[in-house]
Amino acid sequence: TPLDHIRNFSIVAHIDHGKSTLADRLIQTTGGLEAREMKEQVLDSMDIERERGITIKAQTVRLNYKAQDGETYVLNLIDTPGHVDFAYEVSRSMAAVEGSLLVVDASQGVEAQTLANVYHALDANHEIVPVLNKVDLPAADIPRVKAQIEDVIGIDASDAVEISAKTGLNIEGVLEAIVTRLPAPKGNPDAPLKALLVDSWYDTYLGVVVLVRIIDGTMRKGQRIRMMASGAVYELDRVAVQTPKLIEVQALTPGELGVFTASIKEVADTNVGDTITDDRKPTAEALPGFRPAQPVVFCGLFPVDASDFDELRAAMGKLRLNDASFSFEMETSAALGFGFRCGFLGLLHLEIIQERLSREFDLDLIATAPSVVYEVALTDGETIALHNPADLPDVMKIEEIREPWIKATILTPDEYLGAILKLCQDRRGIQNNLSYVGSRAMVEYDLPLNEVVFDFYDRLKSISKGYASFDYKLDTHRVGDLVKLTVLVNAEPVDALAMLVHRTVAESRGRQMCEKLKELIPPHLFVIPIQAAIGGKIIARETVRAMRKDVTAKCYGGDATRKRKLLDKQKKGKAKMRQYGNVNIPQEAFIKALKMG
Ligand code: GTP
Repeated sequence: TPLDHIRNFSIVAHIDHGKSTLADRLIQTTGGLEAREMKEQVLDSMDIERERGITIKAQTVRLNYKAQDGETYVLNLIDTPGHVDFAYEVSRSMAAVEGSLLVVDASQGVEAQTLANVYHALDANHEIVPVLNKVDLPAADIPRVKAQIEDVIGIDASDAVEISAKTGLNIEGVLEAIVTRLPAPKGNPDAPLKALLVDSWYDTYLGVVVLVRIIDGTMRKGQRIRMMASGAVYELDRVAVQTPKLIEVQALTPGELGVFTASIKEVADTNVGDTITDDRKPTAEALPGFRPAQPVVFCGLFPVDASDFDELRAAMGKLRLNDASFSFEMETSAALGFGFRCGFLGLLHLEIIQERLSREFDLDLIATAPSVVYEVALTDGETIALHNPADLPDVMKIEEIREPWIKATILTPDEYLGAILKLCQDRRGIQNNLSYVGSRAMVEYDLPLNEVVFDFYDRLKSISKGYASFDYKLDTHRVGDLVKLTVLVNAEPVDALAMLVHRTVAESRGRQMCEKLKELIPPHLFVIPIQAAIGGKIIARETVRAMRKDVTAKCYGGDATRKRKLLDKQKKGKAKMRQYGNVNIPQEAFIKALKMG
């Protein structure tokens, strides 16, 4: 396709403002799918994605649109993930296209989470077309929302496209705006192949499928390509475009988005952001900005039922096929038995994997306290990377512990600023900057990652009623005065709840954990002490009182079936518990105890 007949774009929107509905309309209007193939919301294909309303993996679709000027254009829509854990994928997807549609619900207005993605789009030098959706709603207030877009984001909204994705009103207007207002891609068809690796996933029939954006040169079937960062060389089996069905093509030329397969075994062999070139006639220079996605949060995942171990291993293997940023290796725990130490991009990523394991593979799991990766310098001169607080060497052998810090940017309406500054301060944050973007405050903080992984994002959302947005990038490791906090239930240390915390907060965290656990552990036939300790020293204690729990007591008369039903129910309840010594700890207690109030 000639360059001037291509338009590449992404859609930036706040959750629920209608991104998926609009994408479906665009596909439908341009005839990308037959009506019977048209399942709702084709772009969000994973169940969890659909339920949580977040897009996890980027997807693309190629549309053919006959414009009012009589010409037929190729429009490539790339879907982008909308959460900070996946910020790197967002920036790679944005780098692959020239423009964005900014979809705003005309009855709601601009919301905070939209901003981070708009900034990614502006960073990528995108032309941005504002689209006001849901104008069919009586509450739609077009002039107010236009003014807000100009005020908060600082782009001209006077010719925003007004639509209803739901009723189909003015979808044509969106398509015309894409053709007339977004720039065509640039590139040199005669230069050596240079392509951006945007995404990859595992397909049961095709194996690993790689999504690329061609910058220069041509990509064709049979060609030998080289991935410049990894050095791997492959021969292309298949070159295709997604409509969203895969359709094989002869070649992909500059400006185009397409996919290939090349007998690549694992998604882990492809690095998002890598530059792909011709092995025999390589390009002189790789594309800038490549960095591999590194797991930053680790936790242990253990089967509730020990006999599920092999099944868990198989399930993780399957998930890993499609998600190279998820890593796992076997681990044993005194209390939890055999399980896995797993690495994630962030807490949301952790929750998603955990949820998929329980939902798609029907596995009951216990997750241990999430931990960041510490550098522990030992007195003998060696430095180890510590993924699991339970493995911390004896304090006598430790020279110093260094923890990862992040550079965080928070955007918030003014009224929540005070509470947010306090939150950052409580989490050992160091303020770098405070400025205003439109009517919003923008605060920049250095924060220890360790203080962010548990529940920072949840807290931020709740104190700002969802209006604050948060973005971060990893910075350096810094020395910290960190101690290991241990929790003992009925005098047994629970290794799953061990964590490293800063000395100044150790006592209050210990106390909070004991208080939470007291609520979460049901009464047993005996008294259960719950203690928190640093080293050998107990710093907090709570007690779960004894109670006789006779569930059948209220069944008078001899109704045997009812009695059995109740006992069965109790047994089922038990299955969700974990035995520690002779104490049963409910599964959810592990995560709940770790969330700070
Ligand atoms: P996530 O996939 O959750 O990120 O949301 P999204 O931005 O993709 O929004 P989605 O397309 O799922 O739409 C959210 C809700 O708004 C759905 O219930 C849609 O039916 C509804 N909706 C979308 N467009 C319109 C519209 O133009 N008018 C009205 N009244 N409702 C709309």
